[in-house]
This record gives sequence, structure tokens and C-alpha cells, in this order.
Amino acid sequence: MLTDTLGMQPHSVPRAMTEADIADTVREHATAAKLALEAGFDGVELHGANGCLIEQVLNPIINSRTDGYGGSIEGRNRLALEIARATVAAIGRDRVGIRLSPFGVCNGTGEFPEVRAQYLTLAKSLSELGLLDIHLVDHSAMGAAPVPTDFKLALRAGFNGLFILCGGFDCASAEQALIDKRGDLIAFGRPFLANPDLVARMRKDAPLNPPDVATFYTPGAKGYTDYPPWRPDYSAAALLHGHVVNSPSSKCGRWASPSTKRAACSGRGSPFQSLDASENSSNAAIALAAYISDGPPPMYVATPSVSLTSSRVTPSLTSVCM
Ligand SMILES: Cc1cc2nc3c(=O)[nH]c(=O)nc-3n(C[C@H](O)[C@H](O)[C@H](O)COP(=O)(O)O)c2cc1C
Repeated sequence: MLTDTLGMQPHSVPRAMTEADIADTVREHATAAKLALEAGFDGVELHGANGCLIEQVLNPIINSRTDGYGGSIEGRNRLALEIARATVAAIGRDRVGIRLSPFGVCNGTGEFPEVRAQYLTLAKSLSELGLLDIHLVDHSAMGAAPVPTDFKLALRAGFNGLFILCGGFDCASAEQALIDKRGDLIAFGRPFLANPDLVARMRKDAPLNPPDVATFYTPGAKGYTDYPPWRPDYSAAALLHGHVVNSPSSKCGRWASPSTKRAACSGRGSPFQSLDASENSSNAAIALAAYISDGPPPMYVATPSVSLTSSRVTPSLTSVCM
């Protein structure tokens, strides 16, 4: 078991969850989401990817249950949907997204024969719940098998909310993906980890620090908070794991809260004052970068089951001013 402070540690032998355990887990997600909002976050992203609990139930290589939580596409989707429904009931559908990694190979998961049908069915049900976004992970840039392009497009077409792409992007390829309408938003992992001022660097086309792979998934601060800033006056954020998301899409306005909208649109010196509908998507991304880089570093919090996104990295700020 990987821990943040001590690295790999021994763990007890896993046992199948009882239905009472599952009910507790569903409630815990809803409670965690409420607490996140109380703590000042705008929304939560359910972690349904990379071998975390929700994906363990989605994936029949791991899920050998024969009760209502396994044995069929509907059974394996059930936990994800119960958690999504409870979280939506707790904080509202426009504040809940989910991270998914179909075709992913992580922590015992892998491709399975019904993978396409499984996730297309899930996306349809998540659409009916009105979930804000699906955040699709493709770790082929990290050595995993790629998520087929036609499947990504089908998943996007089958989901009514925002579609976030992640994996192997740089500024140019992110812009191109948005222009090609392959996704509504692009998330960055390693570039942001190695560059706490990533958005400022992208804005200026400055060189990026390469990530130090040797420090990935290691305990302690090294490799998380000690990458040198490009701007001398910028101190590194305490990034455990984070993303920045750029989008010119007007759909992103669903993230907007009155306060973030005011912050972005009012006042002299707002980085958004030059952003209007006549500007292209590149400028939209850059304007968001400006907003982020001119303020204090964004804050990220991660729990085993819920990833939280601060308002500072939500894409509303691009769209509310367009
Ligand atoms: C050190 C490190 C820790 C990560 N931790 C998580 C995690 O806890 N949960 C998760 O879903 N992805 C995690 N990821 C994967 C990233 O979120 C992202 O999907 C991946 O790095 C691909 O994006 P990139 O090509 O922009 O780096 C981690 C990646 C790195 C490098």
C-alpha cells in the first residue's frame, strides 16, 4: 500500500465489501463533497479511474461479485451511479464531475470484452443525472495502451456534459484538441507538477522544467514542491497532484459562481479585461493562465476517493467573460 509519508507499507488482506459497507461508502462520498464545499471548493471530481474503488467495481477483472454490484454491465455501473446520485443530491449536479479510465491498466485493471458498452452505458446514465463532466484519462504517454480515438469520440457524443481530455498534452496539442472539438477542456498532470507556474510559462512560451520521474510516487516534498519557478517572485504551490484546465467553450460557464464571475469580470487590472468574443481559443486559454498566475498558487486537495478542484482552476473564468 502506497502512503504519502512512508512510501510502500504492508496492508491487510482485502475482503469483499458488505452491502452495509457499500451504503457507508456512498454516504461518505456525499459527506466529503458537502465538506469540500463548506471548505470553499466549487466542486468535486469523483475518482472513478486508475484502479480506485469505483473503477474496481466497474472492472470485471477485479469485480467478481455475484450480487447486485457485479455480474453485468448494470451491476458493475451501480456503485458509480449510486455515488454520483448521492453526491449530486448533496451538492448539486453542476458541481460534480467524474474521472474515468476505460482501457486503463492500473492497480489490477485492464481492458475487458464489454469495456465499450460498459462505459457508454455509464455515460448515458451520468448524462441523465446531469453530471457536470467526464474527465477521461489516457495514460498512453506514460506507457499504457492508448484509449481508442473512436471510443473517446463515442463517449463524448454519448454524454451531455463537459468532456475533459487528459494525458500527454502540451500547450499546442491542447489547443489543437479544443479546436478539433475532441474535448471541451484539457487537463495537465506532469507538466503542472514540474511547473508550479505552468500557466505563466505557457502564456510566455517559456521553457518548461522536465518532470523528475524518479520522484514520482515517493514520500516527502521532493519532486512535488521544489521545482524552480520561472518567475523569480513566484513561490511554488504545495501541489500534491493537480491539473489546470483551459477551454474556450461557453459550456464552461456552468462552473461559474457569482463570486468567481465578479472576480474575473470586474475591476481594473483584471487579467480578463482584454478577453472578448473576438479573441481566439488560444487567448482564452492564456487569459485563464493570466488569472491563475497573477494570484496566489492554486490549492489542491486529494483524498483516496474524491479529488477536489479549487475555483482558481475552474474554467468558468474563460467563458463568463466571453
Ligand atoms: C506523481 C503523480 C501522481 C499522480 N497521482 C494520481 C492520482 O492520485 N490519481 C489519478 O487519477 N491520477 C494521478 N496521476 C496521473 C495524472 O493525474 C495524469 O492523469 C497523468 O499524469 C497524465 O497526464 P499528463 O500526461 O499531463 O502528465 C498522477 C501522476 C503523477 C505523475
